[in-house]
Amino acid sequence: MDELTRIKQLKKEKNAIILAHNYQRGEVQDAADFVGDSFGLSQEAASHDADVIVFCGVDFMAESAAILSPEKTVLMPELSAQCPMAAMITPDSLIKEKEKYPGAAVVCYVNTSAAVKAESDICCTSANAVKVVESLEEDEIIFVPDRNLASYVARYTGKKIIPWRGYCPTHEMILPGDILLEKEDHPDAEILVHPECRPEVIDLADKVLSTSGMLKYASQSGTPEFIIGTEIGLIHRLSLENPGKTFIPATRFAVCPNMKMNTLGSIVRALENNEHVIEVRESVRVKARIALDGMLEVGRGD
Ligand code: 13P
Ligand code: SF4
Repeated sequence: MDELTRIKQLKKEKNAIILAHNYQRGEVQDAADFVGDSFGLSQEAASHDADVIVFCGVDFMAESAAILSPEKTVLMPELSAQCPMAAMITPDSLIKEKEKYPGAAVVCYVNTSAAVKAESDICCTSANAVKVVESLEEDEIIFVPDRNLASYVARYTGKKIIPWRGYCPTHEMILPGDILLEKEDHPDAEILVHPECRPEVIDLADKVLSTSGMLKYASQSGTPEFIIGTEIGLIHRLSLENPGKTFIPATRFAVCPNMKMNTLGSIVRALENNEHVIEVRESVRVKARIALDGMLEVGRGD
């Protein structure tokens, strides 16, 4: 039996669904029940009535699903699929930062551990970072861990943003020169970039959007050609959903190796062996949930 047929059989047996991020391998996206960005995946995890969620993404995404749906079994096919940016801040270092700015609110990007979320007032994703910050009463905001997203938020809000020094190694690979080179060859192409990109890349963009924001925008725009400044896995869905339009990656080097760890074989193993179960300590989960619920309540901004 091939892997796809076996996955279908196991999903039925276990009342399981597969959630996959927009950067997953094409064949993993095609096997999933829902493919989306961090915001959409959190919404789906919170609302679906399956018993088992197989999460094809990275650590913080599966952890968010476990925080939002403690009654479900959340499985991560590849435990080593970790987001390096999320590892750039610890709860202890955030507690020290909060002591330095006692009047500030804490906004954490969803790319953080459950323990960091538990120390934050509210969470955000790339789809609603500006909207979340604007929703707060405080004028001073500690924004962790992405310095690029923090600088993007600072541009579009009147708030004082205190950034952390984290970054996404994959999005840092995209350089202004890459965009300018592609623009020379494709002068009519629209430039869409993710807010995790460097500020010098953001300066060149026509639109700054989350991964699902890019999918929505590309389908609605009359432009037939786009330069895409994000992880190259997004090109799979962009091309599939927009036949006749061309999507040019800003650089082929923008690959997130962690996002590429899940395979059809690892999904079969996860379902057969009920591995690897993601659990969050209840005292942490309850506090982290407040930050995630706040994020979902604010809604999407793109
Ligand atoms: P999105 O929420 O826009 O899909 O981004 C998630 C991520 O990890 C980007 O690197
Ligand atoms: Fe983390 Fe960057 Fe990979 Fe997203 S693309 S999971 S932020 S390393």
